[in-house]
Amino acid sequence: MPSIRLTVDGDAVTRDVDARVLLVHLLTDDLDRTGVNVGCDSTNCGACTVLLDGRSVKSCTVLAVQADGCEVTTVQGLTPPDEPAAWHPLQSAFRDCHALQCGYCTPGMIMAAKDLLDHNPRPSDAEIREGLEGNLCRCTGYAPIVAAVRQAADELAAQPGA
Ligand code: FES
Ligand code: FES
Repeated sequence: MPSIRLTVDGDAVTRDVDARVLLVHLLTDDLDRTGVNVGCDSTNCGACTVLLDGRSVKSCTVLAVQADGCEVTTVQGLTPPDEPAAWHPLQSAFRDCHALQCGYCTPGMIMAAKDLLDHNPRPSDAEIREGLEGNLCRCTGYAPIVAAVRQAADELAAQPGA
């Protein structure tokens, strides 16, 4: 059984995993990352989106062994463990803009949006929609999600050093 080492939300992890195990199942079943959701299990919905070395991936499409040596960030890694109330601006913006209803898509949406803003800090609304096109939401109609990403982008751009 292959042995892998990776970092998950800042924690060093070493595991022996079956080569067939998906990253999403390592995260949810073994590492208690309950913020990672499984929607379709077939690369369509984006509910399982996490960052792999800073780029968003659908973790139901990545083998755990492919994450060997990588840094994985889930939505649970956006808040410092010693400051659970210190929400990331994206998390606050989703709350402020009512960008969630059932919330099932939300962790994946936020991680896809983080990838977008990390690489394009001032996206147009069209670029926000394009950046989130791999993530489906059955509840909101998307407009509040776009507004939330816009608010977070504005807030991040106003931070010192941005
Ligand atoms: Fe991974 Fe839907 S559960 S894309
Ligand atoms: Fe329900 Fe998006 S808030 S699926």
